[in-house]
Amino acid sequence: MSGNVDLGKAKTAKKDEFYTELTDIEKELRYYKKHFYNKIVFCNCDDPFESNFFKYFVLNFNRLKLKKLICTCYAGSPIANTQFSLSDVVKTATPKPYKAVVTTVYDKTGDGGIDMFDVAELFKSGENELTELKGDGDFRSEECVELLKESDIVVTNPPFSLFREYIAQLVEYDKKFIIIGNINAVTYKEIFPYIKENKIFWGVTTNGSNRYFRVPEYYDLTEKTGKIENGIKYAFVKGIMWYTNLDLKKRHEEMILTKKYIPEEYPKYINYDAIEVSKVTDIPRDYEGKMGVPITFLNKYNPDQFEIIGCADFTGLYGSDWMGVQRIGEEWMSNYRKQGGRGHYTANMTSVVYYDNNGKACPTFKRILIRNKHPEE
Ligand SMILES: C[S@@+](CC[C@H](N)C(=O)[O-])C[C@H]1O[C@@H](n2cnc3c(N)ncnc32)[C@H](O)[C@@H]1O
Repeated sequence: MSGNVDLGKAKTAKKDEFYTELTDIEKELRYYKKHFYNKIVFCNCDDPFESNFFKYFVLNFNRLKLKKLICTCYAGSPIANTQFSLSDVVKTATPKPYKAVVTTVYDKTGDGGIDMFDVAELFKSGENELTELKGDGDFRSEECVELLKESDIVVTNPPFSLFREYIAQLVEYDKKFIIIGNINAVTYKEIFPYIKENKIFWGVTTNGSNRYFRVPEYYDLTEKTGKIENGIKYAFVKGIMWYTNLDLKKRHEEMILTKKYIPEEYPKYINYDAIEVSKVTDIPRDYEGKMGVPITFLNKYNPDQFEIIGCADFTGLYGSDWMGVQRIGEEWMSNYRKQGGRGHYTANMTSVVYYDNNGKACPTFKRILIRNKHPEE
């Protein structure tokens, strides 16, 4: 039994191997500098030999004035201990999960600059600590939870398949974080309540962006799904977002609204009392009622300007039922099909739907329902 469980775990982990590019990390983290002062940063899904998160923090250790950097990796990681020169420090026959603890970074080699060779030397000399973990490095394991408790800010790209659990743990231990996740995670019933209550936000360099992630050799890629550069495979991943609970300047910037509310331009949903605003830039500046907007609204969301009421999607898992969104119903459904409408919609679903000015039955995919706190008179 335990063999099967382990196999299952390893299979899932295999699909989670997407390695974040250093440039993507740099682009986002430059907005958080003030938060790192004298803090303990924990990267808990990061092979210290591989992760660009580790590389970023260790090479910027002094600039950010970090107190400590802790990095742990997972035994399932198939490329553990294969790339960086750091692997010379600890040679093992099989990939083992490690814990790296860094409290000092300086020009140990004396070559005039700080690079990964200094980092390796500082591990060798014992000034920083590199030790095998007792267990498999699972972020939920006791030893990793102990490290989590000790740390201030968690920064990583966690396994996509465990995103819900991952966030739940951070919330449980009341940790600050900057992590990568999929755009659709916003509407997970475990995540949306935090978005609604202004406890989790999207980061800065998140605009539904599609990015390349390095992946292990065994990934099958086509021209559409990835590329190979210098023998290294990169997968093209859609809808990647940064999720954080650290305060950002962006969150306090007011969205400039230019449109006036004209009833003909903003149809009402048939199953919820709100208007459809299909483009975030079209949010009217003078509408005081409820509005349905695409989830990319969260890129511009300022809690002083707008209130989030809920979220409507197909399943009603979070929000739709609770907010009182009605089922789509047979009538709209039959008109939609008669007009040639396709897709996965059924009368029992709870995404918000409407008729446009020409009587065309229009579905929506997912909508965040909002209200302007200070609509223009
Ligand atoms: C999306 S990858 C990102 C890797 C690295 N953080 C980065 O950004 O380059 C997720 C990583 O989490 C690891 N992982 C999978 N399950 C894990 C678990 N239960 N606990 C800790 N790490 C896990 C995988 O081995 C994988 O390396």
